[in-house]
Formats: sequence, C-alpha cells, structure tokens
Amino acid sequence: MSAKQFDIVVIGAGPGGYIAAIRAAQLGFSVACVDEWKNDKGGPAPGGTCTNVGCIPSKALLQSSEHFDHANHHFAEHGISAKDVKMDVAKMVARKDAVVKQNNDGILYLFKKNKVTFFHGRGSLVKAAQGTHEVQVAGATPETLVAKQVVIATGSSARALPGAVFDEAKVLSNDGALRLGAVPKKLALIGSGVIGLEMGSVWRRLGSEVTILEGLPTFLGAVDEQIAKEAHKAFTKQGLKIELGVKVGDIKTAGEGVSIAYTNAKGEAKTLDADKLIVSIGRVPHTVGLNADGVGLKLDERGAIVVDEQCRTNLPGVWAVGDVVRGPMLAHKAEEEGVAVAERIAGQHGHVNFNTVPWVIYTSPEIAWVGRTEQQLKADGVKYKAGTFPFLANGRARALGDTTGMVKFLADAATDEILGVHIVGPMASELISEAVVAMEFRASSEDIARICHAHPSLSEATKEAALAVDKRTLNF
Ligand code: FAD
Ligand code: NAI
Repeated sequence: MSAKQFDIVVIGAGPGGYIAAIRAAQLGFSVACVDEWKNDKGGPAPGGTCTNVGCIPSKALLQSSEHFDHANHHFAEHGISAKDVKMDVAKMVARKDAVVKQNNDGILYLFKKNKVTFFHGRGSLVKAAQGTHEVQVAGATPETLVAKQVVIATGSSARALPGAVFDEAKVLSNDGALRLGAVPKKLALIGSGVIGLEMGSVWRRLGSEVTILEGLPTFLGAVDEQIAKEAHKAFTKQGLKIELGVKVGDIKTAGEGVSIAYTNAKGEAKTLDADKLIVSIGRVPHTVGLNADGVGLKLDERGAIVVDEQCRTNLPGVWAVGDVVRGPMLAHKAEEEGVAVAERIAGQHGHVNFNTVPWVIYTSPEIAWVGRTEQQLKADGVKYKAGTFPFLANGRARALGDTTGMVKFLADAATDEILGVHIVGPMASELISEAVVAMEFRASSEDIARICHAHPSLSEATKEAALAVDKRTLNF
C-alpha cells in the first residue's frame, strides 16, 4: 500500500477540524481529513462532539422540550387550550437523531464540494522525516498519509467522577443524557455548569424531578453576578433544585436506581436517590490514539496539547486547535482557530480575538455574554459605568409573553468603550451578536445607543441598556 500525499492532513472532523480542512482547501491546498466517529450503522459521522453528542442534539432536545413546556404552561394565556398534551420521547429522540444525520451528511457534502478527501478511521502520528509527517489511518481500509502540515483537532471527552464510570445506563455522560428512552422520574446531575443546566432543563420540562449538586459555593461563577442571580431565581421558580457547595461522596448503582452520598454546604451528610445520574463536571482534552508520546508531542498537566498563540505545537509543521488545546471549549472558538491555522499555513495573518468570544447557555431564560463581568472589572481595578434594561419594559418581550431578565452593559468610565455585555432573557443567544460586533469594532456604549433598532424588537433592550450607561433610558 503506497502512502497518499497531501499538503495538509487534519485529524478530527469536529468544528475545529472540518472547518480548518474546508478553509485550507479554499486556499488551494490538497487536504485530507481523518475522523473516527461512527454512526449507529458503523458509518462515518463527521462533526465531532458538537454534531453528534453536543451542540446540535442538545439544542434539538431543548427545542422539543420547550414546545412541550409551552403547550402545557403557556398556551392557555394566549387563549389556546391544549388538553392531554403528551410527549413521545422515542419520537423526540428520533427527530434529534435525524437532525444530527442532516448535519453529518452536510459535512460530507461540504468535503466533496471543496475537494477535501475524507478518511474514516483513527489517525495516529507515526513519524516525521525531511519536513513531512506520516499519519496512519486505522479504519476499515488502513491508509498511510503523508503531508507537510498536520492539524490536530481531536476534541474532548466527558470527565468522569472518580469511582463512577459512565455506564450510559444509570451514570450518564452527555452522550447517554441525549439518548434517554423515557423520562426519568428522578434525575440527579452533578455539576451546575453549562451541560448541567441545559440537560437539567430538558428533562425537567418533560416531567423529571431534577436535582443538581454543585461543588462550588457560587452559582455560575464565570457569569456576571447580577445575571447569574437573576438566572438562579428563574431556574428555582421553574422547579430546578440546585444545591451549591456540596462535596460528592460514594455513588452506588447496585439495585434499582443510583444513590449519591454527599455532604451539603452546612456539613450535613445527605443521600440523593435518583433513577439516573448525569455527571457534567467538565471535559478533558482527547488525545487517545494519537501517539503523542511516540512522536514527542508536548501535552500539559491537563492532557491538553501545548500550543503557542498561533496554535503551533512543539513539532514543526504540526498545529492543534479546538477543545484539545487551551481556551474555552466552544464550537465557535474551535472554528475560528481552524480558519486561522489554515490561513497561517497559507502565509496569511489568521487571527482569533479571545476577548470577543461569546458564551451562550441555551436554557430558558437564555444566558449570553461577551467580554468581562462586573466582578472581573473590579478585580482588574478598571473604572467602569454600568447600564441595565429589563425585558419587562420591552414591548416585544411583553408580546412574546417572555419578560424575564435584562440586558447589561459595562463600559469604560473614561472612554465609554464597551467592556462587556451580559444578557439573561429571551433570545439572548441571538442578541449577543450585536454586542460581539460592537466590541470587535471597539465601539462605545453611545455608538449602540445612537443606532436605530427596529421596533418592536428584543434588540431595543440592547439599545436601552446602552442608553442606561448614560442614565438616559427612554422606556424605563
Ligand atoms: P470535537 O467536536 O470533539 O471533534 C473531535 C473529533 O475528532 C471527533 O469527531 C473525534 O471522533 C475525532 N477524533 C479524535 N481523535 C481522533 C483520532 N485519533 N483519529 C481520528 N479522529 C479522531 N459548544 C458551543 O459552542 N455551543 C454549544 O451549544 C455547545 N453545546 C454543547 C453541548 C454538549 C452536551 C457538549 C458535550 C458540548 C457542547 N459544546 C458546545 C462544546 C462543543 O461541542 C465543543 O467545543 C466542540 O465540539 C469542539 O470542537 P473540536 O473540533 O475541537 O472537537
Ligand atoms: P462546566 O465547566 O460548564 O461545568 C462543570 C461544573 O461542575 C462546574 O460548575 C464545576 O464547579 C462543577 N464540578 C466540577 N467538579 C465537581 C464535583 N466533583 N462535584 C460537584 N460539582 C463539580 O462543564 P460541563 O457542564 O461539563 O460542560 C463542559 C463544557 O462543554 C463547557 O464548559 C462548555 O465549554 C461546553 N459546553 C458548551 C455549551 C454551550 O456553549 N451552550 C453547552 C454544553 C457544553
């Protein structure tokens, strides 16, 4: 079997890898992309965690469960009566699987369109010689690929609690959490981060009694305190039980369900019994099978591939992007790095601005932010002005019947440059884009305040929050 030659081999077809491959192909390189993810028939399923067991399927279930919640609790206020509303969980999950498949197929189509050669199997770095790298693909058809440049985008996997392996039957990672065949009567989650809140919301809306055990004493510590407080209030009102400051002990799975021993914030020994447990305590970089040791690829103490600001590893011609390197584990961050690396290989000046990477938590209300929080600005000793505007005073939010939350602007006290925008409320995931654009162009809060926003729209709350920085809201 002779080796196949490419300019660039990308290992991993998640958002970091497949986007790097497409951008590199657009720039005129011959590109191979290797990915090992299998669908339920053993075929290729490119798109990585994001497409298969992350962003896309979680949003599909969030949408289905939100429709169910609306039919049960909010249709009546619009004069719509819907009696005996039922959820067919198998159908909901099948719809989610179909959405995932559309995305898998979409990526295979994009590879064809851009002339990226796809290999299904596990890629390992074998050796480097005379400025080229050899990558072996272990799959149905073993292959040897040779390229001058390699981009590693092998992503991350769920972190397990010591002593509680993921069996995906009772102790679930994000994978099992997205594949439950029925609504568990009692659902326990460990970790009230992004996955805990999104998955907890899905199953609570469908009828589970949900309890989340969180190790830290503060709720959503990375989120602006005022926003986190508002979100906590809303989640508690919905019936999500969140216990902060707990220390999780033994987890027992013998017998019917799962039993979690823990010490609460007051130091009392407690036990939580549930039908299922989702462990959502963060993710770890995934380098299994890459042969990092064999080729001397440097990893840090967390197992992440060590890269410089430009995503160069310690091996010449080998780059790494996305969840497998430092920085936020977000699909759009992985994509930006993938594009930047392809452009750098082409001698261009690819750039990723970490200060303007938005975060979104797709709960109801949604939480979204970009830039620094009020607590970070205080810690950094920055003098700032704050302006907030509640959705309660926004006409579109009232018409939607969704007035929870607010938009909050933080701007430099002297220059008025926007330093952070934080939103909790309806469609925060979409509204945050305006703030990202504004911050990318280093706009002031006055710039946003002077821009014409459509009426009635939720985006008027953004304008009003910008006006609030100068204490001149018009509708509140
Ligand atoms: P991945 O998407 O993990 O892709 C890596 C790919 O590499 C996989 O296909 C894997 O099979 C393959 N691979 C690994 N090793 C090898 C090898 N040796 N050979 C061949 N192939 C290999 N982020 C957001 O921005 N928004 C969201 O709404 C969001 N929701 C999420 C919900 C959940 C439940 C989870 C778990 C994550 C979510 N994320 C979200 C995070 C997002 O999924 C990741 O940040 C993103 O997928 C990282 O992209 P990546 O390309 O670095 O890695
Ligand atoms: P996370 O980092 O968001 O939250 C983990 C939580 O678990 C933290 O609050 C942490 O304090 C807590 N924790 C850690 N160890 C614990 C322990 N032993 N006992 C109790 N609590 C403990 O991680 P999560 O939710 O697993 O998600 C992983 C990553 O996936 C996210 O950080 C994010 O990067 C990405 N993601 C993004 C989404 C989005 O953009 N909407 C959605 C889901 C995931």
